[in-house]
Amino acid sequence: MKSIEEHLKTWTLEAAQLLKDSFENTLTITYKSHIADLVTDMDKNIEKFFIDKIQHTFPAHKVLGEEGYGDQIEGKSGVIWIIDPIDGTTNFIHQQANFAISIGIYENGVGKLGLIYDVEGNNLYFAKEGEGAYLNEKKLPQLEKVTLSEAVVGVNATWAGPNRRINHENVQQIIRKSRGTRSYGSAAIELAYVASGKLDAYMTLRLSPWDFAAGLILLQEVGGIVSRTDGGPVQLLEQNSILASKPGLHNEIIEHLT
Ligand code: IPD
Ligand code: CA
Ligand code: CA
Ligand code: CA
Repeated sequence: MKSIEEHLKTWTLEAAQLLKDSFENTLTITYKSHIADLVTDMDKNIEKFFIDKIQHTFPAHKVLGEEGYGDQIEGKSGVIWIIDPIDGTTNFIHQQANFAISIGIYENGVGKLGLIYDVEGNNLYFAKEGEGAYLNEKKLPQLEKVTLSEAVVGVNATWAGPNRRINHENVQQIIRKSRGTRSYGSAAIELAYVASGKLDAYMTLRLSPWDFAAGLILLQEVGGIVSRTDGGPVQLLEQNSILASKPGLHNEIIEHLT
């Protein structure tokens, strides 16, 4: 019998192929909360694809998905698959690159398996609680301390301007002190980049559980530090503004932010 891990990986590769095949077709694009909040028929199809498989194979498991086809989740008990069928929908539409399938599987609130698949890049980031994190077949090393002056920080450019949620002058200081900044347009990929050392830190406003559920597990396995931008602990089932980073650097950035 196949394990959850094997199913998760197999289904993800099948879903990724559906996404690649869809490049040949015309997408149906609609807006959600506002004109920049896009959703396509493929976001919905991929979420339904996973839910069908999970319900059939693991009927006791619950699903929390961005597009709302999953279960009504009241609390953290039991096994919950937290699914973002396409993280980086704007990139999917505009670039056909830099988008990911992101899935975190939690049991009673504890992260067990985390998977982020960069579809166009064919890069599978995978972590299992207590057993480490991998990029494709290669085990990722533990993250080492770094200072802000040697760090490349993932941050969205909109942060640097006037912003009602965070003091943008503090953000400007972080940007000025860092070695450089990058913005990829997919929170899941950016968290996977911190876990694999391609970014030294990533900070972002108001992510939803499906944006960070998998990334948290990857980061936990490589010694990454993740908190809310106010320094408090991330709440799994809520929206959180998040700072994920290498050790050492986390404190340095939090001091600027708070
Ligand atoms: C979005 C992306 C984006 C982040 C947004 C997310 P979606 O997810 O991760 O990088 O800045 O906050 O909502 O809607 O493309 O799945
Ligand atoms: Ca979305
Ligand atoms: Ca997302
Ligand atoms: Ca999404």
